[in-house]
Amino acid sequence: MKVIWNSQIVDREEVKIDPEDRGYQFGDGIYEVVRAYNGHFFGLDEHVDRLYSSADKIEMIIPQSKEEMKNLMIKLLNESDVQTGNLYLQATRGVASPRNHVYPDMSVLPTITGNVTAVPRNAQKIENGITTITEPDIRWLKCDIKSISLLGNIMVKHEAHKKNAEEAILHRDGIVTECSASNVAIVKDGTIYTHPDGNLILPGVTKIVWLKCAEELGIEVKEEPFTLEQLQEADEVFCSSTTIEVMPIHTIDGKKVNGGQRGKITEQLAEAFKLKIEEACGELL
Ligand code: PDD
Repeated sequence: MKVIWNSQIVDREEVKIDPEDRGYQFGDGIYEVVRAYNGHFFGLDEHVDRLYSSADKIEMIIPQSKEEMKNLMIKLLNESDVQTGNLYLQATRGVASPRNHVYPDMSVLPTITGNVTAVPRNAQKIENGITTITEPDIRWLKCDIKSISLLGNIMVKHEAHKKNAEEAILHRDGIVTECSASNVAIVKDGTIYTHPDGNLILPGVTKIVWLKCAEELGIEVKEEPFTLEQLQEADEVFCSSTTIEVMPIHTIDGKKVNGGQRGKITEQLAEAFKLKIEEACGELL
């Protein structure tokens, strides 16, 4: 299996992670996940922009230019046998010894790894949806950084898993922020509500696309905070991410949303989203 290792594509066996890598020691790093369909990336520019924006926010300098990074990712995809799947790209602040919380000086280069795996589209779930629970948002206050330190996210996801649910919808003092690994939106009386970007959520690339779809379909969107009560009384609820697209939520804390069926607006958005993928990457079977 080929992987990205700093500025090269190498065999996976050649990668050596140092025990004093700051990603390993402190979770000091950032990442991105980009989806490919039919051998083409979807939203590569937006993902690479967000990677460099996350790097800026933690004062990490990635030595490659954005163009070089994109070329490296395209090269990996082309050299793999993956047509439809996910590429994870991680950049840590590199190796520094002795261990010290303070950032090392700029001569220490980031450690960059990337790997791509085949993951088919889950058309059945995009139609039928997933079951969720609500959980307090226990994460830190810089959720706009796509940090590899994901303990808060994985703990709430695991709570969902223990309750036979697939995703956790998070709230801070009753205000819904996002899910453990996706953005979330509700539909009420024909209007979509979703938490505005800022430090409390990840600015989703998928969200950028479905916001555009909503605009083209003439569906009103309000990027404003909404409460747990509004969530419970919503006509439709959906979440979105690179790996799941626009996915309906059919159950929250054991209670059905829209009778357990995908709602009309969620369906329109999911179909419009699919067309955007097909425009960029070719027909989805
Ligand atoms: N997660 N919010 C969180 C906390 C996320 O982890 C993600 C994506 C999103 C949606 O972002 P985007 O539309 O850009 O994928 C929102 C990815 C899929 C992951 O970490 O695997």
